Amino acid sequence: MSASYHYSSQSSTANLDLNSLYAHPSVDNMSTRTPPPLDPANVQGDILVGLPKKTQTYVFFQIDDNVSAFRTQLSKLVPLITSTSQVLNDHAQILANKQAAAEKGRKPTLLTLAGINIAFSHTGLVKMGITDEIGDSAFDEGQLADAQDLGDKGTPTSTGFVPDWIPAFKNPVHGVILISGDCHATVQATLIKVEQIFNVGAHNATLHEVLRLVGDVRPGAENGHEHFGFLDGISQPAVKDFDTKPNPGQETKPVTRPAWALDGSFLALRYLFQLVPEFNTFLKKNPLPLPGLTPEQGSELLGARLVGRWKSGAPIDITPLKDNPALGADPLQNNNFRYAFPDDPQTQDRCPFAAHTRKTNPRADLEDLPPPTGPVPTESRRIIRRGIQFGPEVTPLEASLGQTKLGRGLIFAAYQSNIVNGFQFIQHSWANTAGFPIQKPVTPGFDPIIGQAADPTSRTLTGTNPNNQSASLSLPIEWVVPKGGEYFFAPSISTLRDT
Ligand code: HEM
Repeated sequence: MSASYHYSSQSSTANLDLNSLYAHPSVDNMSTRTPPPLDPANVQGDILVGLPKKTQTYVFFQIDDNVSAFRTQLSKLVPLITSTSQVLNDHAQILANKQAAAEKGRKPTLLTLAGINIAFSHTGLVKMGITDEIGDSAFDEGQLADAQDLGDKGTPTSTGFVPDWIPAFKNPVHGVILISGDCHATVQATLIKVEQIFNVGAHNATLHEVLRLVGDVRPGAENGHEHFGFLDGISQPAVKDFDTKPNPGQETKPVTRPAWALDGSFLALRYLFQLVPEFNTFLKKNPLPLPGLTPEQGSELLGARLVGRWKSGAPIDITPLKDNPALGADPLQNNNFRYAFPDDPQTQDRCPFAAHTRKTNPRADLEDLPPPTGPVPTESRRIIRRGIQFGPEVTPLEASLGQTKLGRGLIFAAYQSNIVNGFQFIQHSWANTAGFPIQKPVTPGFDPIIGQAADPTSRTLTGTNPNNQSASLSLPIEWVVPKGGEYFFAPSISTLRDT
């Protein structure tokens, strides 16, 4: 067993190298030198901290053929782009506002804060005449070309594969503007400002909107929870030099990217529908038959074992049989586990090998893997998850039928230094691969939340019943249905200014 290891939402010990996520400014055209410390005024705000949000609008666009006019308009947008420094100020203001309201026993006032970020797809960069290699083949090829490998369903054709996506994502999308705020009115007012910059709607528009996705955090006590009901956004990699001080004597790795791509990050965006009534019906019909549990508790336990956390966010690796909401809410403790409890990652009595959180961040399953295969470092696989829920709450009719009638789900947005190593690898080689994590005594099975199989009714996983860990559970359908997406690059603010 390795030394005790502590992961935390913002703790240093996830030990993620700054350069494994971000590149940095350099005087060279092609940087291969150790970069200077991160400049929060230059990195777009959604990447490292996340734009404050109650509601977000993603505007997907194509650039007009008059590219030089578009570039001119873009330079006018730059002063409005929200930097990491600005987001840190906004968060401080939100906190102060909440504290002041609590002292007066009132609801916090609306702050009308809005944030704007922008990112470009490969086709967008090419349209702008930027054809430099930035070292990510998934980004270069685009997500449409990747759909089949990601396991998305669709129709094979003589020339390739057409996924079952909404039309907008089956045509080139050049970029996306993200507008975030604490109410629809603020976001709408900000959107109008952005549209005016690009003359949207006029004959001389330089940007054409191809799709708008609106997301909202869920209401009331469900705030922060995704639509299946689980608290989300808990485990994020800590970034060295930003979330933490550099470890003494530990060199930052040099980076190889064109200078304009430094201080930027790749963004994998997915439009994911969730079949919530169907998921809930499955849990209800398959309660874990553990002694002392009511059917309702057995269903709740099954849900927690599929995700890897209870709905409150408490990790089942720490509290395997009973939810502990206080633990879920404690950022110093809710990420303090490694699937090695007490000292052996070879069992799934606490957490199934294929639980969503274990598949997507296997911790000790790779980091403690004995030679000759391991230990396997996982830094390059870490992603920073943002995004937001979309769609209404489940209606009583849907709940009683166990059938989705209204579209809802997650606008999944994840930042990383490299999509091939990050999102693409996690989805394809981990979530969709029954044999991962490797070298286990039984085949783990599919990630029950996002894993995709050629036949969506063929997915199974083991370890859901802690008293019979080799038993396999069949999952009737895939409850997360991708309807599109694209890979983007979110450049630094100085690069946008110079474009
Ligand atoms: C964690 C739900 C899609 C990667 C989580 C958590 C929940 C969740 C509830 C636990 C809370 C947390 O640690 O933040 C969902 C749902 C999805 C979805 C409902 C689809 C609708 C994805 C996708 C990926 C992904 C597409 C990547 C391919 C991750 C990662 C973690 C995570 C890396 C953190 C694991 C850890 O560090 O412990 N997700 N997720 N998720 N998810 Fe997802």
